[in-house]
Amino acid sequence: MSQIEIDDLPVRDELRGKSPYGAPQLDVPVQLNTNENPYPLPEPLVARIAERVAEAARGLNRYPDRDAVELRTELAAYLTRTGGHRVGVENVWAANGSNEVLQQLLQTFGGPGRTAIGFEPSYSMHALIARGTGTGWISGPRNEDFTIDVEAAVRAIAENGPDVVFVTSPNNPTGTAVEADTVLALYEAAQAAKPSMVVVDEAYVEFSHRDSLLPLLEGRPHLVVSRTMSKAFGAAGLRLGYLAADPAVVDAVQLVRLPYHLSAVTQATALAALEHTDTLLGYVEQLKAERDRLVAELRATGCEVTPSDANFVQFGKFPDTHAAWQKILDRGVLVRDNGVPGWLRVTAGTPEENDAFLDAVRELMKEQER
Ligand SMILES: Cc1ncc(COP(=O)(O)O)c(C=O)c1O
Repeated sequence: MSQIEIDDLPVRDELRGKSPYGAPQLDVPVQLNTNENPYPLPEPLVARIAERVAEAARGLNRYPDRDAVELRTELAAYLTRTGGHRVGVENVWAANGSNEVLQQLLQTFGGPGRTAIGFEPSYSMHALIARGTGTGWISGPRNEDFTIDVEAAVRAIAENGPDVVFVTSPNNPTGTAVEADTVLALYEAAQAAKPSMVVVDEAYVEFSHRDSLLPLLEGRPHLVVSRTMSKAFGAAGLRLGYLAADPAVVDAVQLVRLPYHLSAVTQATALAALEHTDTLLGYVEQLKAERDRLVAELRATGCEVTPSDANFVQFGKFPDTHAAWQKILDRGVLVRDNGVPGWLRVTAGTPEENDAFLDAVRELMKEQER
């Protein structure tokens, strides 16, 4: 039994009274709340992971490749093949999930006395990682339809002169993709104001109807594109995120990364998964079709739906968001209340999971009509 409470400890002032990141992990039949890929890794890949990890295990008495060169080379090849832009090993950096990539970026370019801006609602960890790294957080505006209000965003950048600008495309929790022209306008405003770094978080881009924003890296050394294997590669448990940027950015983040941060087991597992890219991207196609079905069928129930380029859909609008969330949960389906008033978010699952979810929403909507 602890004798003291957290606030009795000499924690940093800006952490006092705050809550940790915490999507509920409830044991219910249908879990559609954390944007995971519902398909377990295919057996041939599981076998290949076992093989590569066994090989790595024989060398675990040694530290891993600190610079993860083989893995970064394969990630660069994947980006070049699918992203519409040639990327080399020198442009790529990898870490334990894109959250760690983002943390390293804020440790490098943010920190005490500096600020970062994001356009909210967006991925809540951007603000939380800012807090954890002592970076001031500025909440920028969005339009009513959840697209970025370019004029207001450019003004906010000019007025605040943030050191880091976050653009999430497709955006979480809304699913909204960002136009290349919008990123260019924000990049120019950010360069005029400081110059600062612009981080495009493309965690969900493989699910998008549109192309990656990777080609914008050409001639823009202050632009960073961050990616993850947690979603399209169906490997949230692996913890592997990466970025593409100018080689100088890759050099810069190495100033803050912990030595040997990426374990040999992680590197071996990620390399095995990359060998099976085509199979995994096949699941992405199925999920995109399911996502589009969710959008259409939710609209048919009378819900409002935000157009989605991700593996999830934002739907509403509910007079009492928490009550709607609870009613869907009562039918065995866990979705996410991201704190956007009136709106909930559902992750595209298997067809059966999505059917269970849609049945729950149909019942909810009928109840609301009464
Ligand atoms: C927009 C966005 N970026 C980054 C992440 C972090 O992903 P990971 O740390 O698993 O790579 C998430 C996870 O949900 C996300 O929604």
